[in-house]
Order: sequence, then C-alpha cells, then structure tokens
Amino acid sequence: MAAIIQLQPITDVPDHRRASAAPRDPVFYQNPYAFYDVLHGQDPSFFWDEYGHWCFAGFKQVSALLRDKRFGRDILHIKSREELGMPQPKPHTQAFDTTEQYSLLNLEQPAHTRLRNLVNRAFVSRHVEQLRPRIVRLANEMIDSFEGEDSVDLIKAFAAPIPAIVIAEMIGLPAEMAPQLLGWSNRMVAMYMFGVTLETELDADQAAQEFMDYLATVIAERRKNPREDLLTHMLTAEINGEKLTDAEVMSTTILLLNAGHEATVHTTGNGVKSILESGLDPASLFATEEQTAATIEECLRFDAPLHMFTRYALSDMDYEGISLRQGDVVGLMLGAANRDPARFAQANTFDPFRTDGANVSFGAGIHFCIGAPLARIELQVAFSELFKRLPRLKLADAPRYNNVYHFHGLEQLQVSWR
Ligand code: HEM
Repeated sequence: MAAIIQLQPITDVPDHRRASAAPRDPVFYQNPYAFYDVLHGQDPSFFWDEYGHWCFAGFKQVSALLRDKRFGRDILHIKSREELGMPQPKPHTQAFDTTEQYSLLNLEQPAHTRLRNLVNRAFVSRHVEQLRPRIVRLANEMIDSFEGEDSVDLIKAFAAPIPAIVIAEMIGLPAEMAPQLLGWSNRMVAMYMFGVTLETELDADQAAQEFMDYLATVIAERRKNPREDLLTHMLTAEINGEKLTDAEVMSTTILLLNAGHEATVHTTGNGVKSILESGLDPASLFATEEQTAATIEECLRFDAPLHMFTRYALSDMDYEGISLRQGDVVGLMLGAANRDPARFAQANTFDPFRTDGANVSFGAGIHFCIGAPLARIELQVAFSELFKRLPRLKLADAPRYNNVYHFHGLEQLQVSWR
C-alpha cells in the first residue's frame, strides 16, 4: 500500500476550489512555496487536480486533521478492497508489501497501540539523550574525513551517514552496514513518488527482499545470542503474554531504519542551506543550548523534509463545507502548513529567533513521529559541531532538490569552508 490513492473519482468540484501543480515539474518541486503562497492567499482547502483529491494547506486544518479520529492511515479494517474498489496487491510488489504489512505508519488502533508501546520506550527523551556523546563523536569523525578537501557534497559526506549509523546501532546492526541500509532504503522510498513506474516497483521490491533476507539472518543469530539492543528487545518483549512475530519485528525494523534516517538527512541538508542562504552569523544561532534547539525548530519549520501525508475519510462526512465520502483521500500538507501566514509572523522568513516556531513537521496525533526526540538530538549535535568546526562554511554550488515532492530534500549540497 505504498501510496494512498483516491479510488473513486471526485467529479463535482467547482472550478474556484481547484488548484493545479504538477508534482514532477522541476519548477514546482524545486520551490513548492510559490504554490503554497497562492493557496494561502486564496483558499488553503482545495482540490489538487493532479492528485485528484482534496488537500489542506492551512496550519489549523492540518493540525486538526492529523488528530481527527474520523480519518485514518488505513481503511481496510472498515471495508474490504472489493467494496472500496481498491485494486488487489500486485504480485511483483509482494516483498515490498510484506515489509509494510505491520508498519506502525499503516496500522490503526488497537494494533497500532500494541506495537507502538513496545518500541516507544527505546525512543523516549531520557533514553535517546544517552546517545548524545556518540553522535558528537560521529559528527566529528565525518568532518575529519573531509576537512582536508576544498569542497564536499555535505549530503553524502555528513548528512546521510550520521542518522543511518545511529539508528542501525540502536537496533543492533553494525555501523559498517549503514551504506547498504541507505541503498535499500532509498530504493524502497522511491515507491512514494508521484507516478511510480513498473521499473521502480520492481527495483523497490528487490530491495525489500534483500533487506528482509539480511534481517532474517540477523534475527536468527540474535535469537541464539541476545544482546542489549532494540532488536533483542523486540524479539523477547511480551505484551499481555504475547510476543511479536518475526514478520512484525521485520516490518518494524525496516520502518525504523527507513524513517530513522531519511527525514533527518533531508532536514540537515535543507537546514544548512537555509542558514547559509540567510546570511545570519552561525555563531549566534548555536550560542546556547536553548538557541541551538530553537534554530533546529526553525530549520524544521522553514523547509520541512516531508511535505504531504495522506489519510482516508473513514465515514461519509461534511468537513468544513467539503463533502467527503468514506474512502476519499485527504492530503495534509505539512510543508505548506508551516508557512501559513495566519499562524506564523513573517512565515516566509527564516528566523531562528522567533518564538512562535511550534510546527507540524513531526506530525501529530497517534502517528506523531516516534523518533522526534532522537532526530532533534541528532540535528542539534550535527549542526553545532559542523558550524563550530567549519565557521566559514559557504555554498559552493546552487543546491538542487530531488524529484520526489513528498520527500523534500536535496540531491546535493556542495559546500566549501576556506
Ligand atoms: C527530522 C526528522 C524526522 C521528521 C521530520 C519525521 C517526521 C515524521 C512524521 C511527519 C510522521 C507522521 C506521519 C503521519 O502522520 O502520517 C512520522 C512518523 C514516524 N517516524 Fe518520523 N520523522 C523524523 C525522524 C525520525 C526518526 C529519527 C525515526 C526513528 C528512529 C522516525 C520514526 C518514525 C516512525 C516509526 C513513525 C511512525 C509512527 C507511528 O505511526 O506511530 N522518524 N515521522
């Protein structure tokens, strides 16, 4: 169920409520904020022609919809595929679908609560806070490895390895596996692109199969030799006398590995770009712990790494004058909500000293990002170490975003520091 798609066409939309932007048009995905400005100026609750469903760009609506129990990530617990007109799973994406079957992100209560409670303990602030010294060491090792050069692609050399190694080690996989995990993850994430091709599906499915084969070996080994890691915890913990199945452990591990680095990598790239383009003095942005935290929140708000998540309407309803049928999809535009001028003063200005920064980049409600405390620590450490070691950091080339609208992150961030 990679992408949630509108099943029954919606046909009776008046022209004045429609808006159009092609998700794969470089002009759009390089700067979606121009489109968002128009929406905020006209009607932030609109029908997006290319997606064929209703979308919400206003902060108030996005924030409320994320918490609204009348909407869900899944709908198959309420109606069958046949009743919904949902196509059957494709045989050639079987491995990929298996990895998603018990993904927290796709489950609803009570299955969601059971699984989430089990892993939650590992991600609470006081637990992940203990990782801070390890993240400081990692950030410095990365900087050591490229400091002697004239310029570097910061995404590859710094942003990508840190969160990948941290989440791999937390789960209990060796740091040397991080590049391989990144490779599998990138190939699987391509399934969330707008207009996925057969080639992408086949490649994502192969990556999913390789990922599962690898994990099956590690799980077998860990059953014989338990350790102090999250994988062992997932294999041995009991909830109401019940243990997780191998399939549940595998889905959760893959979700944690994929979700655990992708958005953090993009926030690092987008945030460094925002800081360098702002002309602000980095020393002032990381002068104290409080200011460092505020700067990271502003990076998350100003150029969010995840721009749209979707939900199904679980029943027929009227939502703010829009009539929705059971099974209709709504798009919640996190990146646009964070730039809503009705919520943020000078919404289009990068201002790490603002006091109205609370944003929706980590979502809200039952699916609120479980990794938010960890991501915040990773980002605070990575940014402060980077600007402390390389205070003259500057852009060496114009940054370019990837061609995946939902995952708004840079393909490359070439920087120099002399
Ligand atoms: C800057 C970094 C990150 C951002 C912006 C981010 C954002 C999000 C968002 C918006 C959601 C909710 C999606 C929805 O409601 O449909 C989410 C869920 C999730 N995130 Fe993150 N995330 C980040 C880092 C992480 C990290 C480091 C981890 C793991 C270690 C992680 C693991 C998860 C998981 C497991 C879920 C699903 C939770 C559930 O469904 O209960 N994320 N994230």
